[in-house]
Amino acid sequence: MNQLQKEIKRRRTFAIISHPDAGKTTLTEKFLLYGGAIALAGSVKGKKSSRHAVSDWMEIEKQRGISVTSSVLQFEYNGFCINILDTPGHQDFSEDTYRTLMAADAAVMVIDGSKGVENQTRKLFKVCVMRHIPIFTFINKMDREARNPFDLIDQIENELGIETYPVNWPIGCGKEFRGVFDLEKRHILSFEANNGQHEVAATEVDLNDASLDSYIGAENRAALMDDVELLDGAGAGLDVEAVHAGRLSPVFFGSALTNFGVEPFLERFLELTPPPTPRLSNGESVDPTQDSFSAFVFKIQANMNKAHRDRLTFLRICSGKFEREMEVYHVQGNKKMRLSQPQQMMAQEREIVNEAYAGDIIGVFDPGIFAIGDTICSPNQSFAFEGIPTFAPEHFARVRHKDTMKRKQFVKGTTQIAQEGAIQIFQEPYTGMEEVIVGVVGVLQFEVFEHRMKNEYNVDIIREPLPYQYIRWVAKSPVDVKELQLSSDTKLVQDFHDNYLLLFTSEWNIRWALEKNEGLELAEFHKE
Ligand code: G4P
Repeated sequence: MNQLQKEIKRRRTFAIISHPDAGKTTLTEKFLLYGGAIALAGSVKGKKSSRHAVSDWMEIEKQRGISVTSSVLQFEYNGFCINILDTPGHQDFSEDTYRTLMAADAAVMVIDGSKGVENQTRKLFKVCVMRHIPIFTFINKMDREARNPFDLIDQIENELGIETYPVNWPIGCGKEFRGVFDLEKRHILSFEANNGQHEVAATEVDLNDASLDSYIGAENRAALMDDVELLDGAGAGLDVEAVHAGRLSPVFFGSALTNFGVEPFLERFLELTPPPTPRLSNGESVDPTQDSFSAFVFKIQANMNKAHRDRLTFLRICSGKFEREMEVYHVQGNKKMRLSQPQQMMAQEREIVNEAYAGDIIGVFDPGIFAIGDTICSPNQSFAFEGIPTFAPEHFARVRHKDTMKRKQFVKGTTQIAQEGAIQIFQEPYTGMEEVIVGVVGVLQFEVFEHRMKNEYNVDIIREPLPYQYIRWVAKSPVDVKELQLSSDTKLVQDFHDNYLLLFTSEWNIRWALEKNEGLELAEFHKE
């Protein structure tokens, strides 16, 4: 193996996904602690204190206690170079989560043991399953009263349509939490609650050890024996191929806050999760360890730092090695260039990167030339990675600026936020940019949009909700689209590539339009 291959093989790039409050930030923080990337618990988060999570940088996130945008952290652990992609914990931002998952090779799903798969996050988790990437489940907060582990596993299987493979099994929960039984290594990791101390001691005991009762008690031991018998009877061995195909999720129990079961989880996870996986270009896979560099844009973010007023584009490197001064080719822009100020995030710091490898995520300064899904590669190559689908918006509003003097900022703000993929904007034909129709997948996106317009672009907007729920691209029209026969509550709009679209209030209206206009073809999805 040459140096390039070695560097790429030791990389692990994954996203963490959870319902708000399930413990994603706490778990991430413990990972960083083990990796020596931070020295003090609480330096990543402390929502209710004056500190706030490094990834929760946006005002609105701080106010509402939700994570709206995703960010990236890199650290080293046991010879691995780990890239963690944080994802928004609310279903209204599931499209952002999907884009982030495009950049990840695996996902860790954190579930609160007392709540199981929560209503609000079902959609988010399903998005994860849709991507067919390996999903690892960490069932957290076992130091609190939790649901029956069999029920939790059943729920994950039934609701998400994925098989599970318990790697360890909890012994009791809450005050009675005694540890976990490692179903692979066949030993018990005993938990010693430590008067509310955050770090606990762990002891390894064999299942047949006579002293076991003194660790977990006779009753727990009997219950564990029964559980293990059931699990052994039901479970086949671990099918790593099924894990990699996203059909089987290894499940771990633990408690991130008390630091219990986190390190064994991280170690086993790193063994099981794949190194950078190939991405597709025109149906063919691009080998991550090939010499020539390639990457794609999965995220764009304006004003990440208000003081900088800049716009960052995030690239997932798919193959080869990136070097700071190297010349690259931006395929969609048909332009050779050098990437400006390539950087990586580490906690609150941004660091200039001199080199990075397949699997890594880098942010580059973007003067407004990149779009989500764009490919960047070595100048001697030209190919395009498969695009990132856009979710169809389900909520619409007409938006205009309150102050007519603010037209320029209004246009800039709406355009930039739309380029990030945080909203979609449409226009009624021939109305100009004085007002736009904004479409979003989840209503909270409206709030974020309004907040950002005010805080980042200094524009107060007037937002008037519209009753539409369905959007269709006009793929083919038998007549000039303005001549189409449409019900009075159907609206014709254009996107900013001048494509025509129709907004409908009901499915009935869609059928009506198709019946009245023979030859009309409507498409649910559209890729540029
Ligand atoms: P999130 O990023 O998924 O939203 O969750 P986060 O880590 O912020 O955790 C949410 C709350 O749950 C925090 O409490 C955190 O301390 C707590 N928590 C996380 N893991 C565990 C665990 O294993 N056991 C127990 N008992 N609690 C856990 P908070 O009161 O909201 O915040 P803070 O005051 O601790 O900062």
